[in-house]
Amino acid sequence: MSFAKALDTWGHPIEARLLEAIATQPASDIRDAMAHAVVGGKRLRGILVIEGAALHGIPAGQAVHAAAAIEAMHACSLVHDDLPAMDDDDMRRGRPTVHVKWDEATAVLTGDALQTLAFEILSCPACAPEPERRMDLVAALAKAAGAAGMVLGQALDLAAERAETPLTLEQITRLQAGKTGALIGWAGTAGARLAGADPAPLAHFSGALGLAFQIADDILDVEGDPAKAGKRLRKDATAGKATFVSLLGLEGARQRAAELVAEAEAALAPYGAQAETLRGIARFVISREN
Ligand code: IPE
Ligand code: IPE
Ligand code: MG
Ligand code: MG
Ligand code: MG
Repeated sequence: MSFAKALDTWGHPIEARLLEAIATQPASDIRDAMAHAVVGGKRLRGILVIEGAALHGIPAGQAVHAAAAIEAMHACSLVHDDLPAMDDDDMRRGRPTVHVKWDEATAVLTGDALQTLAFEILSCPACAPEPERRMDLVAALAKAAGAAGMVLGQALDLAAERAETPLTLEQITRLQAGKTGALIGWAGTAGARLAGADPAPLAHFSGALGLAFQIADDILDVEGDPAKAGKRLRKDATAGKATFVSLLGLEGARQRAAELVAEAEAALAPYGAQAETLRGIARFVISREN
């Protein structure tokens, strides 16, 4: 299955699960803003959960809960990333950002609520009937999203804008492994965790994939079409962001991303032909236009 086909197949069930969870919250601006923030997007992280789960014999009807949870956490990170105190963006997924449509305080609280929603969804028995597997998913997501993962990466990203000397390749790799890699890493390994299986091969796969994904995001910032991307582009260089493009140039970044995709595909060897969709997803990540 191609990435486009996977999105066509799984996009709707993931969104329906998110909107169902949001609909159970009491009526408020926050609830409306949560629904606004979770709509759209490529659902890469959710699709990784469902496809990784399929490799371990977990049906999509079950994996969709963990898929919705990671998409809620991802949406939280986007709402906060777009705030004036961070990247100050007015457009996301082709629509106004939450602080533009509502206000900054609403955006801060909406991000908070999306984060707790992720854990609420993971905690439901339908996510995994075995309490210890749900607990494993919860603990791993807490680690991936927090001060050792995504939050750390975001902080390093902002600090790099103010740094006097450009970051080294090693520092940029660490920054991006947190900023983007941690949530993609969780998504990639969730299927194995749902099955109580060894997450190591999928961790290797999604580690390389996450890095390639952020390099592609940085390349898109330089040469993408904002209408297709659904967000403002050409901002990283003026903001002084530390990216693979700023360090290696466009060609060097493209080459590094291609190497990482080859590494990601190779990591799927233990799964044989069964992992063809995940291989296609890896190739999509560096050829995408949005
Ligand atoms: C954008 O992520 C933010 C990054 C981590 C680079 P995506 O490109 O996956 O955003 P959506 O979910 O498709 O909107
Ligand atoms: C965002 O990275 C990463 C997270 C939200 C954790 P970027 O700032 O590069 O993402 P875009 O380009 O705004 O989507
Ligand atoms: Mg950012
Ligand atoms: Mg941003
Ligand atoms: Mg970006």
